[in-house]
Order: sequence, then structure tokens, then C-alpha cells
Amino acid sequence: MMVDLHCHILYQTDDGPSSIEESIRMIEKAAEAGFTDLVLTPHYFPNGPYLKTAQENREKFEILRLVSQRAGLPVNLYLGNEVMNAFKVPALFEEGTVLPLGQTHYALIETGRKGTSEEALLTTIRKLDQAGLTAIFAHPERIDFVKEDPQTLKTFRRRGCLVQMNYLSLIGYYGEDVRRTAEELLRNGMVQLIGSDAHQADAYEWWAQAREEGSRILGEEKFLRILENGGKVIQGEAVLSRPGSPKVTVSAFCPSDSLKGIFFD
Ligand SMILES: [Fe+2]
Repeated sequence: MMVDLHCHILYQTDDGPSSIEESIRMIEKAAEAGFTDLVLTPHYFPNGPYLKTAQENREKFEILRLVSQRAGLPVNLYLGNEVMNAFKVPALFEEGTVLPLGQTHYALIETGRKGTSEEALLTTIRKLDQAGLTAIFAHPERIDFVKEDPQTLKTFRRRGCLVQMNYLSLIGYYGEDVRRTAEELLRNGMVQLIGSDAHQADAYEWWAQAREEGSRILGEEKFLRILENGGKVIQGEAVLSRPGSPKVTVSAFCPSDSLKGIFFD
């Protein structure tokens, strides 16, 4: 099982593919790279411009899943969101406007690259935790306050938040400063999850090189153990996204429980 927890493959929802043909091309490339499970995570920006609701995304997702199946592509598809941090994010999950990753209690959250504070994000993480959701901080290596002080991620870890790094960061796709930060985070055991953040098919062509680089930094065994965490996330217990399931209490998903089985260096 090789999971990509973060990709923009769903057509006509965000700045990813503009047609279903392009979506299928991305899935083909992901499969060629060795990915077996893809969690589609369309952007949702509470203040615009990406405002497609889970309901709208589900309709397209079901069509794409059918087309992918009929094309015989050997991948499992799941639906989630990558949600830009804002005051109302916990409410958006609560009302079902946005989705956690698949049928799990993991929520992928991003924050603006420039001029954002860690405090605002930590507040959202705390509120999500109170609602039974475990936050995953998307690609912190690209965020200014993390680049300035990577150690700040220790506070996030203490609050039970997981860290997802983009593998493209490791090969300098976003520039040298991001690459340097990604390497430091990886070396210091601050990364628990890896994703592509693919917006187009060529992102998957870089996986082999990124894997090599990750293995050089951390040793292959440790790097691949981080990759395996993706499987643990996607097999996590259902929380808010499963209609009719009992509301999960905070104590049932306290940070220590929700991190059980997740590899930390
Ligand atoms: Fe993304």
C-alpha cells in the first residue's frame, strides 16, 4: 500500500486539472509511480476563491471513480479536502461543507505562506481536536514562520497535530529555501506524512528522485516508514464524515490516542 494523502486530481474544483481526461492522466501517472491509494484533496478557501462544497465534489468524485475503474486503473480513490485556515474552519467540518481525509478523523489544513501566525493555526487545531478531528499540517516547509524557525513545529506536535511534507520540496521544486527547510524537518524527525500536492501529472514523474533524496537524508528504511504512515491514516477510525456514527468524544481521540501507531523518529 502506497498512499498519496494530498493531491489535486479532481477536475474543475480548484487549480488542479480542468478536465476529467487530465484527472485520469494524473491517476495513470500516480499508478505508474507506484501509488496504490490516492486521497483527492481539493482546495477549500473559506474566503474564496475555492469554494466548492463536499456535495459538489462528491458528484464529480463518483464520476471520476467510475471512469477510473472502467479504465482498469489499479488505484483506490478517496475524497477529502485541503482547507485553508480561517476562524470558521472547525464549523465547516462540523456542518460537512468540507471533508476530512476519506472516512477518517484526519483533517488536512494549510495556512497562508506569508504573513500568517502560528497562533491562529494552533487555535484551529485545538478546536478540531475538541471536535474529534486530528489536524494534519500541510507542507509546513513552504510556510514563512516555519522556514524562519523550524523548531516551532514542536509546539504543533505537542498539540497532536501531524506534519505532511511535500516530496517535491526535497528536490528543490519550490526553491532552495524550501528544500533546506524540508531537509531539516526530515532530519529532526518532525515529518510524519508525505504527499505529492500534485496539481498536474508531472508531479508523479518526480517521485523516484524525491524518494532517492529522502532515502539519502534519512536512510531508506526510515524514509519508507514515514511513507507507510499514509496507510495508517487512511485506515483510521471514521469520525464526522460517516453519517449516523455516534459523535466521538474528545477523550476518545485525545492526541496520544490519535497518534497511536504513527511513526515518530
Ligand atoms: Fe495542496
